[in-house]
Amino acid sequence: MNPQAPLPTRPTASDTPSLPATDPIGVFDSGVGGLSILQALQGQMPHERFVYVADSAHAPYGERDAVFVQNRAQRILQFLHGTHRIKALVVACNTATALAIHDLRQTMPDLPILGVEPAIKPAAALSQTKRVGVMATPATLKSEKFQTLLKGMGSDTVFVLQGCEGLADAIEQQWQRNDASQVLALCEQHVAAMGAFGHAPGHIDTLVLGCTHYPFAAHTLRALVGDAVQIVDTGAPVARHAHKVLADKGLLAVSGSGGITLFATGDMGNLQHAADMWLPRSALTVNTAAV
Ligand code: DGL
Repeated sequence: MNPQAPLPTRPTASDTPSLPATDPIGVFDSGVGGLSILQALQGQMPHERFVYVADSAHAPYGERDAVFVQNRAQRILQFLHGTHRIKALVVACNTATALAIHDLRQTMPDLPILGVEPAIKPAAALSQTKRVGVMATPATLKSEKFQTLLKGMGSDTVFVLQGCEGLADAIEQQWQRNDASQVLALCEQHVAAMGAFGHAPGHIDTLVLGCTHYPFAAHTLRALVGDAVQIVDTGAPVARHAHKVLADKGLLAVSGSGGITLFATGDMGNLQHAADMWLPRSALTVNTAAV
């Protein structure tokens, strides 16, 4: 389906007469990255059912423009709401949160829609050297939403921003290719571009993973920046926030065995590989979705 084609009728709030606690939670990303958030969500809310969409036919988002990502996000919302009757949506992608969450919330104001953003605030609080590295997609760093977040941070911390072109895609493809050398080469390149890491004055002592794909390269990054550097991602805080929002709205599933259903809009192999690795006990099968 042409992602730039005019959108069919959008779901509206009036299409949602009730939001029973047993309905599933929708989660999406451009690809496998959102599994790093899904894993935390499932750990925090084991009774919930989750429906995950990897938009693999249109990944990576991080090197696309805002209109493209907004159209994809709308189509995925239609699929998750129209076909699966989700009670809440987690945008498990920093890029889609930065470019499209406002638009999604306007489309369905009654649906709880949560996003993820680079954890620069917690990182600034953790940093002793007051120099924080931020790895994210070029689209996230350029976005108005991120720039506003950054402006609100005051001046006592220096943020070294690194738009990691190519890294999300390399992470996405590494299992299929059975070759992590491109991930390693890109991590080396992007880490080197940020400057010195460590506890000495002027060094970066805290690194923010501002793309949900990057936790899948955390071991590689750790080896490059050293053990003393704090690496901050968003899985656990997003899961805690989602739990609180659903509990406050009376939407939390409190019994049942829960479960995960996975969809990919294009190639299913990467998602299957990542799910086998990251959600091993569930032995999940990936379905295809024409979204
Ligand atoms: N995982 C996504 C993010 O958090 C998107 C990566 C991409 O598709 O470029 O930004």
